[in-house]
Amino acid sequence: MKKLIASIQQNKSITKEELNVLLNTKATDIEQYLFSCARETADNIYGKDIYIRGLIEFTNFCKNNCYYCGLRRDNKSVERYRLNKENILDCCKKGYDLGFRTFVLQGGEDAYFTDEKICSIVSNIKENFPDCAVTLSIGEKEKHSYLEYFKAGADRYLLRHETANNEHYSRLHPAELSLNNRKRCLYDLKEIGYQTGCGFMVGSPYQTIDNLYEDLIFIKELSPHMVGIGPFIPQSATPFKNKSAGSLQTTLRLLAIIRLMNPHVLLPATTALGTIHPKGRELGILAGANVIMPNLSPVNVREKYTLYDNKLCTGKESAEGLNSLKKCINEIGYNIVCARGDFRGENNV
Ligand code: 5AD
Ligand code: SF4
Repeated sequence: MKKLIASIQQNKSITKEELNVLLNTKATDIEQYLFSCARETADNIYGKDIYIRGLIEFTNFCKNNCYYCGLRRDNKSVERYRLNKENILDCCKKGYDLGFRTFVLQGGEDAYFTDEKICSIVSNIKENFPDCAVTLSIGEKEKHSYLEYFKAGADRYLLRHETANNEHYSRLHPAELSLNNRKRCLYDLKEIGYQTGCGFMVGSPYQTIDNLYEDLIFIKELSPHMVGIGPFIPQSATPFKNKSAGSLQTTLRLLAIIRLMNPHVLLPATTALGTIHPKGRELGILAGANVIMPNLSPVNVREKYTLYDNKLCTGKESAEGLNSLKKCINEIGYNIVCARGDFRGENNV
C-alpha cells in the first residue's frame, strides 16, 4: 500500500482501482501515511504557510435552481439580500486591517449585478487596496464578461465544476444547466489568464467512486490553480433535504489525493469541512490543504447565506475569530500569513 501511495506521488496520477483502495481502506496507518505524503508535498512548495482569503458573500439572490443549494431560486424561505459597493469596500477595509490580502467576492447568479457593476466594484477594490488580489466567484458568464472583469483587475475566479460526469451533473442540476457550459467557462477563465479554481462536493447525492475518478481526471486535464472540495451537507429547504452528508474521512482522503496529483495547487480547507467536524479545517491542512477562507461578510447577513444547514459563520470561521484560528493553526505546526498567496507553479502561470 505504501508503494501505491509513493507511485501516485511520483507519477501524479491514479488508477480507478487505486482510488477504490484508498477510499475504502480501513487501515488507519495507510490513511496516516497518505496524509503525511500529501503534507510533505505541500510543505515542499508552500512551506508552513497557510494563506487566508476574506470571503465576502455579497448577494444571495440566484437565478439558478441547483437541487443541493439553499440559495436556489425556488427557496422562498430565505430572506434575500445584496451588499452595495460601499458595504463591500467596508468589508475589505476591515479585512485589510486584520491582515487579509485576498478578497473573494462570492454570490449567487444575480442579474442585478451587471458586468458594469461588477467591474466598478473590482476596480474600486483594486484602487483602494492595490497590494491585494481579488477573486470572483459569481458563476457562469460569457467569455466577454470574464474578460471585462479581468481587465477591471480581477485576479482569480472560482467556479466549481461540481461533477465531471454528465449524467451525475444532470441529477444535481435542472436541465437548463449543463456540464459542457461549465467546462467552457473554466477553459475560458484559464485562457484569459485568471488563476482558476474548480472543485466539487464530496458525497453529493448519487455520486459514485467512478464519478470521483472522473473528477480527478478532469482536474488533471484542466490543470487549475485552485481546487475547492468540501462535503455535501443537506439543506432543509432543498429537494436534497433528506440526503445524507458527505463524510469527513472521504473528504480528507480526497484532499490528500488531489495534493499528490497536483502538487502546486492552492487547496482550501473549506467551511463545509469545518462545519461537519470541529477540527475539520485543521485536519484538512494536515491532509494537504493550504488555504482557509474566513467569513468577512457583515455579521447581519451571514445567516442568510444558507448554502447548507448549520453553516459556520462565527467563531474561528469568521474574520473576527482570526486570532483563535491563528492559534489553532500554530498548534498543528503551521502559520497563517499576511500575503496574497498566489499560485506557485511551473506550467500553469
Ligand atoms: N453542501 C455543500 N456544499 C454546497 N454548495 C452548495 N450547496 C451545498 C451543499 N448543500 C457548494 C457548491 C457551490 C459552492 C458555492 O457551495 O459546490 O459551488
Ligand atoms: Fe445558485 Fe450557486 Fe447555489 Fe447553484 S450552487 S443555486 S448557482 S448559488
